[in-house]
Amino acid sequence: MADLKGRTVFITGSGGLLGSNYVRRMLASGARVVASDLPGGRAEELKERHGKNGDFRFYELDVTDEAAIEGMFHHVMRDGWEPNVVLNNAAVTGELLMGRGQDFPDLANTRTEDFEKVIRTNLTGAFMVARQMDRDIVGRYPATLINVASMYALRGPHHAIYDGMPFRNFSAYGISKAGIHGLTVWLASYWADRKATVNTISPGAVFNGHSEEFQRRVSDLVMAGRMARPDEIADVVLFLASEAAGYMTGQFVNVDGGYSAW
Ligand SMILES: NC(=O)c1ccc[n+]([C@@H]2O[C@H](COP(=O)([O-])OP(=O)(O)OC[C@H]3O[C@@H](n4cnc5c(N)ncnc54)[C@H](O)[C@@H]3O)[C@@H](O)[C@H]2O)c1
Repeated sequence: MADLKGRTVFITGSGGLLGSNYVRRMLASGARVVASDLPGGRAEELKERHGKNGDFRFYELDVTDEAAIEGMFHHVMRDGWEPNVVLNNAAVTGELLMGRGQDFPDLANTRTEDFEKVIRTNLTGAFMVARQMDRDIVGRYPATLINVASMYALRGPHHAIYDGMPFRNFSAYGISKAGIHGLTVWLASYWADRKATVNTISPGAVFNGHSEEFQRRVSDLVMAGRMARPDEIADVVLFLASEAAGYMTGQFVNVDGGYSAW
């Protein structure tokens, strides 16, 4: 288990399937956790679960809101904590869109404004958080950024596994996730002389109550023969957030059960 004592981790999109797991596991590993997310049920659940823990704080943050991001770290610092780990985790995901009752048009019918909305959250939002880290944190003390990509960042999806499913893989998702690693490698060299590191984690497909049929289709593409458990992704995120990963920067870390090795 990673030792996160002395780490103050700022996480975007903390209330989701993986984010809520990271919060729980990081607190258990000795970190202070500054969780953030859109207002709503997920945020309330997090606050209910961890609100009494002195190492936990929650701030509402929409990563598409430039002004809010610009004030974010100052706000946290004014409250007495200095984040030295930042996790760009927030994203518009297929399951998020499904939960909002949105449909999944084919490429020919994808509206530019919908494409741009996803890019704004998944990529521009991550850029703005990183830029703010550059302004407020990088160079003041050693710090690390973890960007979250996907098994679909550097590889095309197997579109057929979504046939008949209530959600699909959509173009803006994979494209935004490829851009995320572009952000990582660009920053890695830019920040090198200021003792800041940055890496990408690329989770495989995480089980979240999917149908037997969907599990079977995905599992056939994965050497491990099954979907991931949130804890298996968290184990690696915690490592990347720890001092033990201090000699890693600019890396694309696959945690995908072997999906990308075939
Ligand atoms: N679950 C998987 O199988 C999987 C696989 C590969 C990569 N990922 C990536 O891991 C990360 C977490 O995924 P998840 O499965 O927990 O997804 P999720 O949909 O459960 O959670 C996403 C979170 O992002 C938040 N969010 C969305 N728009 C936001 C905005 N504008 N501002 C702030 N927060 C916003 C949501 O409120 C939610 O809490 C994402 O970057 C996702 O792309 C997930």
